[in-house]
Amino acid sequence: MINVAVLGHGVVGSGVVEVIETNAKDIAKRCGKTLNVKHILDIREFNDLPYANKFTKDFNVILNDESVKVVAEVMGGVNPAYDFVKACLEAKKSVVTSNKELVAAKGAELLKIANENNVNFFFEASVGGGIPIIRPMHQCLAANKIDEVAGILNGTTNFILTKMIHEQMDFAEALKLAQDLGYAERNPEADVEGHDACRKICILASLAYGRHVYPQNVYTEGITKITLNDVEYADHYNHVIKLIGRAKLLDNGKLMIMVSPALIKKSSQLASIDDVFNGVLVKGNAVGDVVFYGKGAGKLPTASAVVADIIDAVKADATSVSLVWEDSSENIVESKDNYSCRFYARAVFGFDCASLSAIKSVFGDVEAINTDIENQNEIAFVTNNMTEAEFEQKVSVLFENGVKVVSKIRVLEY
Ligand code: HSE
Repeated sequence: MINVAVLGHGVVGSGVVEVIETNAKDIAKRCGKTLNVKHILDIREFNDLPYANKFTKDFNVILNDESVKVVAEVMGGVNPAYDFVKACLEAKKSVVTSNKELVAAKGAELLKIANENNVNFFFEASVGGGIPIIRPMHQCLAANKIDEVAGILNGTTNFILTKMIHEQMDFAEALKLAQDLGYAERNPEADVEGHDACRKICILASLAYGRHVYPQNVYTEGITKITLNDVEYADHYNHVIKLIGRAKLLDNGKLMIMVSPALIKKSSQLASIDDVFNGVLVKGNAVGDVVFYGKGAGKLPTASAVVADIIDAVKADATSVSLVWEDSSENIVESKDNYSCRFYARAVFGFDCASLSAIKSVFGDVEAINTDIENQNEIAFVTNNMTEAEFEQKVSVLFENGVKVVSKIRVLEY
């Protein structure tokens, strides 16, 4: 029997206890030992639970219990999770976590501490909830150079966009529904402004390219400015709008990495990933394209990944050599100005202005999108490939000519 401790008894923490109990026999077979949840850390009272005697409010009870070999950190946030995780690793206990904020901020350091103490720091649940993505990337795809990783990494924003696309709800209405259904927090900023997706793409990029990518160096744009008009123009152009996190290693050794809404062709595998589901596309130079799809959040899907990590930590007799990346002292992210793609833009103009010809005189040959939208002083168009800097410069020139670009969305090929 192996004793484990769980830090936090919120949605995921209670799911971890439930999965360990419900699937005890199968887990014992796969693990070679039975798992026993010996302690649960939480400052709240849970006197009505059948396992109420396992709760403690004192982290030191867990830290000083030498019989506890694996600790699951499912509290969220960087503090005090960071201090607790670091202390556990230094006490030679393996730690598994679902905490993407912690991994994105401190991953390189915690992996190093785990290595120095011959234990493991696993975080399968930090990206894609229950979808296996971290382990497949460093084990099953270990033979590949990863050319690019891109995907829909946030379930809440994908739910909101799905409602906008298929039910013509506006952003505010769809956000409220997401909150009523418990997908979005009362303060939805981390999801709708793209920060959650940013942490996740930073973790995937760090793993794929071996150097820590810090979220503060990554250009991040959320979905709050997307309107139903944009959704309709995209539809007429045979595309859908998705929030995409993407990372690619450039020839100069720097990383192209960004989170932003994007127009994706309806025929793309990412286009049909709807509701709260996540999908991650990994392009390997040997395997080609591989897509991972499933529930990116929720109690039991996330607990499934946390408990799988516990099982792996129990089975391991040394630190994983493939789940690792180094810290990066300098910013390894290429300036966003140099990224290239085609752009969708929606422009408004005064009635006295020859709009499309003005746009073409600045942007060259653009594709105008025709719709049933009855707005005589608005045009949506898609540009040719150009850098972000070129696009912005042309937008300024257009503005001087009386045409204002009110919406800009990248058009990506996946
Ligand atoms: N808020 C996150 C999402 C939860 O909506 O995807 C899972 O990380």
